[in-house]
Amino acid sequence: MTGESSSIDSTRPSIARVYDYLLGGKDNYAVDREIGDVFKRDLPGSVAIAFANRAALTRAVREIMATTGVRQFIDLGSGLPTADNVHQVAQRRAPEARVVYVDTDPQVLVHGRALLEENDRTRVVPVDVRDPEGIRNHPDTRELIDFGRPVAVMFSAILHHVNDDEDPAGIVRYWREQVPSGSHFFVSHFRSGNNPETAEAEKVLQATFGRGRWRTDAEIAALLDGLEILEPGIVPAPLWHAEAPGEAWNGGGEPELTVWERLIAAGMARKP
Ligand SMILES: C[S@@+](CC[C@H](N)C(=O)[O-])C[C@H]1O[C@@H](n2cnc3c(N)ncnc32)[C@H](O)[C@@H]1O
Repeated sequence: MTGESSSIDSTRPSIARVYDYLLGGKDNYAVDREIGDVFKRDLPGSVAIAFANRAALTRAVREIMATTGVRQFIDLGSGLPTADNVHQVAQRRAPEARVVYVDTDPQVLVHGRALLEENDRTRVVPVDVRDPEGIRNHPDTRELIDFGRPVAVMFSAILHHVNDDEDPAGIVRYWREQVPSGSHFFVSHFRSGNNPETAEAEKVLQATFGRGRWRTDAEIAALLDGLEILEPGIVPAPLWHAEAPGEAWNGGGEPELTVWERLIAAGMARKP
């Protein structure tokens, strides 16, 4: 599982490129757009979900930069570079912030590298997220991340690509054990159990990529076992630290959201 990925295959859709297409990016092929269009047709909220997820990730980085002293990030399943990437958000506030991006998609590695490795404080590590030890021991991770200081570990839209038999909880636990107290964990995840559309959407994802496990909010929270889940808890991503007035999650009944806005959840946790 460790090491450089094979070359770009433009005949089969890739998660990174389909996601890039939904976000309006240009790093995708006809085969990705075809599947992206199926998502848009059968799941009319796909584009909104992709943007809502990306916006929550950006808010999470800003929140960490504003409210903690954490200045180093490991972004697991980072995806193709898009408008604002973790290092740009973090380094805008603190130029010394360090970011290790992790992804195995060849397109990310080839095209993303130039953009993501903009400076000597960012690196792209081509190791599978299911091999956390391989990531931890990669020379670039060792060089950039000081495991004696708190780290932000970002699991943005990645754990739903890890099936139950691949031990997603064990992956989170590995990182929890590697980092010191005060470290932060951000998770965004496709959520199930809220509406019938969910099952259909999960089926499309599984049929396309041969993997995908949507989880209930309780299952997502269980992945963060041993960590202190911060306010407002695991909530629909558009509500997580929403910035527009009146949108903030108040912990009461779930505000009115579209079916699609409910499909992805976000949450942040802290290692006590
Ligand atoms: C939906 S994108 C999310 C991108 C970004 N984290 C975000 O939230 O905007 C999922 C990314 O995870 C990557 N990915 C999926 N499975 C992976 C694995 N087992 N190891 C490493 N990367 C993986 C894909 O290549 C893709 O770039």
